[in-house]
Amino acid sequence: MIGHRTHLSVNEKGHLEIGGVDTVVLAGELGTPLYVTDEDRIRTRYGELHSAFSCRGYGVKIKYAYKANTSLAILKIFQNLGAGADVLSEGEIRVALYIGLKPEEIIFTGNNKTDEEILYAVQKGVLINLDSIHELERLKRICSGRDVRRARVSFRINPAVSPKTHPYLATGLKESKFGVGHKEALKAYTSAQEDRNLSIEGIHMHIGSQILDPGVYAEATSRLLDIVCELKEKLGIDLKFIDLGGGFGIKYQESDRYIAPSEFADAVFPVIDNAVERCGLKRPEIFIEPGRFLVADSTILLTRVNTVKETPFKKFIGVDSGFNTLARPALYNAYHEVVVANRANEEAREVVTIAGNICESGDILAHDRSLPKIVEGDIVVLLDTGAYGLVMASQYNFRPRPAAVLVSGGRWVLIRKRETFDDLISGEILPPDL
Ligand code: LLP
Repeated sequence: MIGHRTHLSVNEKGHLEIGGVDTVVLAGELGTPLYVTDEDRIRTRYGELHSAFSCRGYGVKIKYAYKANTSLAILKIFQNLGAGADVLSEGEIRVALYIGLKPEEIIFTGNNKTDEEILYAVQKGVLINLDSIHELERLKRICSGRDVRRARVSFRINPAVSPKTHPYLATGLKESKFGVGHKEALKAYTSAQEDRNLSIEGIHMHIGSQILDPGVYAEATSRLLDIVCELKEKLGIDLKFIDLGGGFGIKYQESDRYIAPSEFADAVFPVIDNAVERCGLKRPEIFIEPGRFLVADSTILLTRVNTVKETPFKKFIGVDSGFNTLARPALYNAYHEVVVANRANEEAREVVTIAGNICESGDILAHDRSLPKIVEGDIVVLLDTGAYGLVMASQYNFRPRPAAVLVSGGRWVLIRKRETFDDLISGEILPPDL
């Protein structure tokens, strides 16, 4: 077990194992960089979150946030578990339907939807979570004169709270680009109610990501419920669902507090109970949209050491990945725990910096870590890379995106092929007269 991660262990050879599979053997057989996901860990996390929100007197649905990890195998696992989908593009709607989800299980959020995406969602019967009054006007315009079914809608509310996370990961601040503010909300629902071709189904918020303070959810939920009560009192609307968004934070490093999922549920349900009673609401269904909580710690990234380099200032361990493979450290200064897979039992001996292979100074995967003595060929592993890892990978510097495997009970299966040079040039067009 590595820290609190029960799905990671060290075998008798001193190698890191995930789901009973030796990562050094995997790296040897499949090459690096390689994303490795433990299926059972995903199931465990889903079960933990689901049971924390269940038996609270409301129907609860988990709408897995596709943006966190869109490997088809992982989407299928969630479908089998009974999760719906939170999606943000036509591509994500399509992949949800491709996996076999019903349109009713999908909620389409996004602050900049195209006309084509809106029309596609209406035609398929997918609920559109509107981000502004302008978007509502656009929806009305797109549907008018067309023989389309009644559009199912909700509004994303901006509850104007600070989630105490990285500034790039805060989405419910009053100055942020997302959602409808409290003052506009009544106007938005009134306008939607006037259109007989629309069916108002719910209300939504998503206040940010990697949130480690459940109290922020209580505050935001209370603001959301104030609006729900106003809608009931002034417009007679009883919403079918309240979507509290995602954002539940995980423990990336030892100094992070571990938040049990029940702490998030304990923060929001008393607020909902209170409003239901005070305002005489019909009990709504409660949706949550976690991404990171469900997939982040299921996955590790295996990289191989190319170069060991000492300068008067630092010792750099150069690996065969960079921010093209894992963007989070460069983009958000995110911390990912590092383990040397083939020296997982060895004591830390030196402080090193894990450098990526992209030609940019910001391409550092881990700064100043105490690790065993590392040599060329060793396998350096970055933990907790299942959320916003592979999905944010690019082909920058003309490097192919990595392969991915799924492990379970000591067995593995490839779920994504490593890209090749042919993939890199497949979309390019060389004009014949050049
Ligand atoms: N719902 C909506 C509307 C969202 O925009 C997001 C994430 C989620 C749910 C899921 O949030 P989660 O439970 O995963 O925190 N790339 C960043 C994270 C960006 C999150 C974007 N929205 C990172 O690597 O940390």
